Amino acid sequence: MSVAETIVGEAYSLITQVASWFLALPLLQRVLLVISIPFVYSITWQLLYSLRKDRVPLVFYWIPWVGSAVVYGMQPYDFFSKCQEKYGDCFSFVLLGRVMTVYLGPKGHEFIFNAKLSDVSAEAAYSNFTTPAFGEGVIYDVPNWKLMEQKKFAKVALTTDSFIEYVPLMREEILKYFASEPAFQGKNGKANVLKTQTEMTLFTASRSLMGRDLRNKLNASYAAWYSDLDKGFTPLNFAFPYLPLPSYKARDEAHRKITETYMELINKRRQQPYVHDKDLVDALMNNSTYKDGTKMTDQQVANLMVGVLMGGQHTSAATSLWFLLHLGERPDLQEQLYKEIKETIGDRDLQWEDLQKMPLVNNTIRETLRMHHPLHSVFRLVINDLPVPGTKWIVPAGDYVLASPGWSMINEKYFPHANQFEPHRWDKLAGSGGGFQGQGGSNPANKDNEDNATVDYGFGQISKGVSSPYLPFGGGRHRCIGEHFAYTQLGTLLVTYIQNFTWTSKVPEPDYSSMVVLPTPPAEIQWKKRE
Ligand code: HEM
Ligand SMILES: *[C@@H]1O[C@H](CO)[C@@H](O)[C@H](O)[C@H]1NC(C)=O
Ligand SMILES: *[C@@H]1O[C@H](CO)[C@@H](O)[C@H](O)[C@H]1NC(C)=O
Ligand SMILES: *[C@@H]1O[C@H](CO)[C@@H](O)[C@H](O)[C@H]1NC(C)=O
Ligand SMILES: *[C@@H]1O[C@H](CO)[C@@H](O)[C@H](O)[C@H]1NC(C)=O
Ligand SMILES: *[C@@H]1O[C@H](CO)[C@@H](O)[C@H](O)[C@H]1NC(C)=O
Ligand SMILES: *[C@@H]1O[C@H](CO)[C@@H](O)[C@H](O)[C@H]1NC(C)=O
Ligand SMILES: *[C@@H]1O[C@H](CO)[C@@H](O)[C@H](O)[C@H]1NC(C)=O
Repeated sequence: MSVAETIVGEAYSLITQVASWFLALPLLQRVLLVISIPFVYSITWQLLYSLRKDRVPLVFYWIPWVGSAVVYGMQPYDFFSKCQEKYGDCFSFVLLGRVMTVYLGPKGHEFIFNAKLSDVSAEAAYSNFTTPAFGEGVIYDVPNWKLMEQKKFAKVALTTDSFIEYVPLMREEILKYFASEPAFQGKNGKANVLKTQTEMTLFTASRSLMGRDLRNKLNASYAAWYSDLDKGFTPLNFAFPYLPLPSYKARDEAHRKITETYMELINKRRQQPYVHDKDLVDALMNNSTYKDGTKMTDQQVANLMVGVLMGGQHTSAATSLWFLLHLGERPDLQEQLYKEIKETIGDRDLQWEDLQKMPLVNNTIRETLRMHHPLHSVFRLVINDLPVPGTKWIVPAGDYVLASPGWSMINEKYFPHANQFEPHRWDKLAGSGGGFQGQGGSNPANKDNEDNATVDYGFGQISKGVSSPYLPFGGGRHRCIGEHFAYTQLGTLLVTYIQNFTWTSKVPEPDYSSMVVLPTPPAEIQWKKRE
C-alpha cells in the first residue's frame, strides 16, 4: 500500500466513525450541533485572529459570514464612530464573508486613495457592479492603464471651452422641464425631488455631453431606459452580477437601446464631418486611440459614454436634491442666493462665466457635498500584503480596504457644528482658486499640508497629497474627473431653481442602503412661483 492510500484509508475510517457517532445522537442534539458548528467555528476564528499581533483589530460579530453587514449597511457612519471609539481610526470588520479594513480620517485617505497600483485594485472591487451596467471594455472591465487613458479621452469634453457651450444647453433642458413637468404646473405645488432631480440630471448631462442632436430623444422613453439600467445597478450586483432576474434582463435590454442610440449619433456625425461641438461624442470621435495604437470600437465608445454619464448621474442627482431640501428650511439663504444672482446677471441669461462670480452658489454646493457625500464608502481589493504605516499590522491580500471621506466631512473634529447646513462656513475660502476642493493647504482644517505637489496618472495633473478631511471627489489615480462638470451642472440647476421658485421643505433622514446616500421618502418641496 502506498502512503497516499494509507492516508485515504485512515481518513475514510475517521469520517465513518464520526458519522456513526453523529447519527447515533438524538435528533434534537444533532440539529443543535449542526447549527452551532458555524458559531463555534466563527468565534474560535475571531479569538485566534485577535491574538495575532500582525492584524488590524477586528470588530467582534455574532452571526457567521454575515458579520457586521446589518449595522454597517443601515448606519455606516454611526457604526464607524462606535468602532473608532473602541479601536481608533483603523479597524477591520466582516461583511458577507469578506474582511474589510477601514481607515478613517486624513491618514486613511492617504493610505487608500494613494495606495500603490501593485498593492490594491479598484477594478477587482467594483467590476461586478459596474460592468453589467456600463458594458464591456470600459472603466473597471479593463486594466488600470486603459482606464487612465479613457479618463484622459473623456476629459477633453470636460474643459472650460466645453462648459461654456454646455450651460445654455442645460438651461434650456431645465426650463423645458419646468414648463412641461406636471409637478411644476400652476402657481404653487409639491414636487418629489427624488423624481425631478433624477430626470433633470439625466437630461442636462445627456444634452450637454452627448450633444445637441440628442434633444428630441430626451423624453419619457429615454428616462425609462436609464431607470431600467439603474434597477440592475444595485448593491446586489457586487455578489451576483448575472442572475436570471427580470430586472437584470431589463437592464441588459436598456443598455442595448441606449448604446445603439449613442452609436447612431456617432454615425450621423461621421456623415457631416465639419460640425464640431465640444462634447463627449466629439472628444471620443477625435481621439480614443490608446497609446499602444489600438482604437476603441464604437460599442466601447458608447459604453464609455454610459459609464461617464452614470458616474455623474446618481452623485449629481443626490447632491441637487439635498441642496433643495436644505434650502427649503432656509428661506434666508434662498433670498441671499436670489440677490447674488440678480446682482450678477440681472435679467440676462446665465452663462458659465457668471457661475464663477457667485461664491454663495458655489459654497452651497460645497456645503451640500460636505454633509451629504453621495458615496459613504470607497473600496479597493488588497492584492499584495499591505502594511499599515506606523504599526505592526499587515492587511493581507484578499481583504478589502475602505475609506470614508463622508465620515470625516460630518465629524466635529474637522468641521465644528458639523450637523448644521451652513454654506457661509466656506466664505473665507472664496477665491482660493484651484484649491477649492480643500487640498494643498487651502483648507484651514488642513494646516499641516503645505505640500502643493501635483502628480499625473495619465489624465492630467492632480493634487499629490490626499490627506485632507474634505475629499468629496476622492484622490489618487481614481480621482473623479467630473468635479468641474458637476459644479457647472449643479450651479446651473441651483440658479434656475432660485430664479423661478421659492420653496419650503423638511430635511428627511438619510437612507444609506441604496447606491448613493438618498433621503428617506417622502422627499418633497412645496414650491411657489416667483413673480
Ligand atoms: C457631485 C458629483 C460627484 C461626486 C461627489 C463624485 C465622486 C467621485 C469619487 C469619490 C470618485 C472616486 C471613487 C474611488 O476612488 O473609488 C469618483 C470617480 C470618478 N467620477 Fe465622480 N463624482 C461626481 C460627479 C461625477 C461626474 C459628473 C462625472 C462625469 C462627468 C464623474 C465621473 C467619474 C469618473 C470617470 C471617475 C473615475 C473612476 C476611477 O478612476 O476609478 N463623476 N467620483
Ligand atoms: C421619445 O422619443 C423617441 C425618439 O424620438 C420616440 O421614438 C419615442 O416614441 C418617444 N417617446 C415618448 C414617450 O414620447
Ligand atoms: C463577483 O461575482 C462573482 C460571481 O460571478 C463572485 O464569485 C465574486 O466573489 C464577486 N466579486 C466580488 C468582489 O464580490
Ligand atoms: C475635435 O477635433 C476638431 C478638429 O481638430 C476640433 O475642432 C474640435 O474642437 C475637437 N473636439 C473636441 C471636443 O476637442
Ligand atoms: C490620442 O491619445 C493618445 C493616447 O492618450 C496620444 O498618444 C495621442 O497623441 C492622441 N492623439 C491626438 C491626435 O491627440
Ligand atoms: C466655484 O467653483 C469652481 C469649481 O468648479 C471654481 O472654478 C470657481 O472659481 C469657484 N467660484 C467661486 C466664486 O468661488
Ligand atoms: C504652496 O502654495 C502656497 C500658496 O500658493 C504658497 O504660499 C506655499 O509656499 C506653497 N508651498 C510649497 C511647498 O510650494
Ligand atoms: C424661469 O426663469 C427664467 C429666468 O428668469 C425665465 O426665463 C423662465 O420663463 C422661467 N420659467 C418658468 C417656467 O417660469
